[in-house]
Amino acid sequence: MEQPKNRVFSGVQPTGNLHLGNYLGAIRNFVGLQATHECIYCVVDMHAITVWQDPKELAANTREVAAAYIASGIDPDKHIIFNQSKVPAHAELAWILNCVARIGWLNRMTQFKDKAGKDREGASVGLYAYPVLMAADILAYRATHVPVGEDQKQHLELARDVAQKFNNDFAAPDFFPLPEPLIMGEATRVMSLRDGTKKMSKSDPSDYSRITMKDDADAIALKIRKAQTDPEPLPETVEGLTGRAGADNLVGIYAALSDMTKAEVLKEFGGAQFGTFKPKLAELAVEKLSPITSEMKRMMDHDQGYIDDVLAKGAVRARAITDPIYARVREIVGFI
Ligand code: TYM
Repeated sequence: MEQPKNRVFSGVQPTGNLHLGNYLGAIRNFVGLQATHECIYCVVDMHAITVWQDPKELAANTREVAAAYIASGIDPDKHIIFNQSKVPAHAELAWILNCVARIGWLNRMTQFKDKAGKDREGASVGLYAYPVLMAADILAYRATHVPVGEDQKQHLELARDVAQKFNNDFAAPDFFPLPEPLIMGEATRVMSLRDGTKKMSKSDPSDYSRITMKDDADAIALKIRKAQTDPEPLPETVEGLTGRAGADNLVGIYAALSDMTKAEVLKEFGGAQFGTFKPKLAELAVEKLSPITSEMKRMMDHDQGYIDDVLAKGAVRARAITDPIYARVREIVGFI
């Protein structure tokens, strides 16, 4: 079986509140990789239900992530967009990999600890096994590269460990490639606009903590105006951002949106007050995001049939890739 060389796989959970961190840390990079790689982009609805989801909202949010992919510039004719639950190999391979991964490995996952909080006993088994399903997502395609934000780094390391152990345990050297994380750009970890030491997240109770992919121009400007900063002007160099989390975050967002480095942004704005910088950032964010936001809205309001069609066709193409790989996995494991 031939080894793919440049196969990208990544996913986003349909849990609502898609935000600027998802866009800059992940989706924007998905778009760029289309020119050089064979790309498979998944809406991971099975991951979403590791915490309770209202079924109607899950369906709407699944379409919304697909719309965000398409509106951001992923071409569903050239590459694959689909939702995870439509391709059975994800769950089937996940079971086998659950038997390869060790409990000790999962016990080290910081995201489980964060998400389960104090009530670990009350968390779902699915939330605990979440990283193994993620490994299955990637390995079901024998993907070589995985673009993600910084927060997924530990899960990717686990996926590599699982791949390696499977190859060793079943004496199938190099069957699963060890997937490379691609953590790219100046905004690999976008922080909350209310607290520059916390990650921007879908679940933060404050709507002012994040810019979402549904916000209109007024909401974006207001949230940036209210973003937490400090009274000092912007520094001239990147070192000057140390200890100034709020400032560092806004400069990183500006850099990522404008395809500049933070150093270049500070060359332009070093010495400026936030009263000058924030309106410029808001203008830039609106310029870059509003075409995407309005195309998403158009699709969600008037073209859900198209979204469903993309997902259905994508799933057929995804299955055409996973079927022979999973058939080989069955042989390797000894299933008849
Ligand atoms: P999810 O849905 O939490 O996030 C989707 C993507 O957005 C990135 N991201 C961020 N990047 C920068 N700053 C932030 N504040 C920020 N918040 C989120 C995430 O790193 C991610 O790339 N487990 C994954 C989904 C997944 C997956 C996979 C990814 C399931 N299977 C296989 C890659 C390959 C997740 O929860 O993403």
